[in-house]
Amino acid sequence: MNVLLINASPKTNGNTAIALQEVQNELEKQGIETNLVHIGNKDIRGCIACNYCSTHGKCVFNDIVNETAPAFEKADALIIGSPVYFANPNGTASAFMQRLFYSTSFDKTMKCGAAVAIARRGGSSATFDDLNRYFTISGMPIVSSSYWNMVYGRLPGEARQDGEGLETMRTLGRNMAFMLHAIQDAKEKYGLPEREPHTMTNFIR
Ligand SMILES: Cc1cc2nc3c(=O)[nH]c(=O)nc-3n(C[C@H](O)[C@H](O)[C@H](O)COP(=O)(O)O)c2cc1C
Repeated sequence: MNVLLINASPKTNGNTAIALQEVQNELEKQGIETNLVHIGNKDIRGCIACNYCSTHGKCVFNDIVNETAPAFEKADALIIGSPVYFANPNGTASAFMQRLFYSTSFDKTMKCGAAVAIARRGGSSATFDDLNRYFTISGMPIVSSSYWNMVYGRLPGEARQDGEGLETMRTLGRNMAFMLHAIQDAKEKYGLPEREPHTMTNFIR
């Protein structure tokens, strides 16, 4: 089993990296393979609603989104880590997640999801809630921890001082490993839940 971790911070060794590495180490201790992709230092534009992906199965912009999509398809879980910018995920995280989830049509049912928010002071809950919504529209169970997944720090490295935040990350790693095993067992025993053909109902009346 393997978990794809996405670092949306522009900083390779910033606080988001510290938080994600804490989850990653715990997952690996539990025998889960991990793959951490740094997207926050890439030039990622937003979705232009061209719907190229609906006919081509990939985004019209051939960048890190398309490069990461096959790893997401193979992964059993996705963890997105974003610094908090103005009480939201940063623009790179939002552009990446919107285009990744819109442009990929493979079934994400029962892949686990988790969001991690890193802030100096405020907006972590809003960021956490925002990022979790990609999972809840995709049949992806959210893995929780002993607290909401947030780690505090301003300057790179300060996150190491947030003992409770790092504990939350380690617990997230252990809980995710448990859920991955449980879902694997359940898939073997029961198979994936049946999917209905999708009904689009637009509220235009
Ligand atoms: C444009 C910008 C907006 C920010 N907005 C917030 C904010 O709303 N709340 C907050 O607590 N920290 C805010 N921060 C601080 C970062 O979230 C914080 O420094 C974080 O540790 C950065 O993580 P990184 O080292 O992984 O990049 C902001 C930083 C930047 C650059």
